[in-house]
Amino acid sequence: MTKLKVYEYPHPILKQKAEKVGHVDEQLRRLFDDMLETMYAENGCGLAAPQVGVSKRLVVVDIAHEGEEPAPLYLADPEIIWSSEETEVCEEGCLSVPEMRAEVERPASVKIRYLDYNGTECELLAEDFLAVAVQHELDHLDGILYIDKLSRLKRQMLLKKYNKLQKERKVIR
Ligand code: NI
Repeated sequence: MTKLKVYEYPHPILKQKAEKVGHVDEQLRRLFDDMLETMYAENGCGLAAPQVGVSKRLVVVDIAHEGEEPAPLYLADPEIIWSSEETEVCEEGCLSVPEMRAEVERPASVKIRYLDYNGTECELLAEDFLAVAVQHELDHLDGILYIDKLSRLKRQMLLKKYNKLQKERKVIR
């Protein structure tokens, strides 16, 4: 497995709509493995292929806590087929927008359909934090970041802080 480079905002690949894969082959499984390794190395709980520079509809998620058994989910061509009317507000962060966090409101639960690691069609009801993680990652496949869901003012404030921090990070590097 290889740790991949994570692309950061405002890289244009993060704004692109990713392509469907249709089926899961050996090459995509290798990409799934590399994405999972990258996500664990960065202490993330979800990662979408566009974040590692590949514009394909692939996502990995693992919301197990530190010290718990890893419980990775591999989602190819995932689609939301049902969302609850009830919503929930949760603080989110993103490996492509490092150091930042903000509260986002989303449906509290969603049902998704996807192809798993073996290419088998599956359905999953995601609730609580898994629902948040899944929706956040699926948004990446359509070129949407959680910061796009903030009010204009909140987004501006966050980006101002982010740009300042990114400049400092570049100096340190
Ligand atoms: Ni993200």
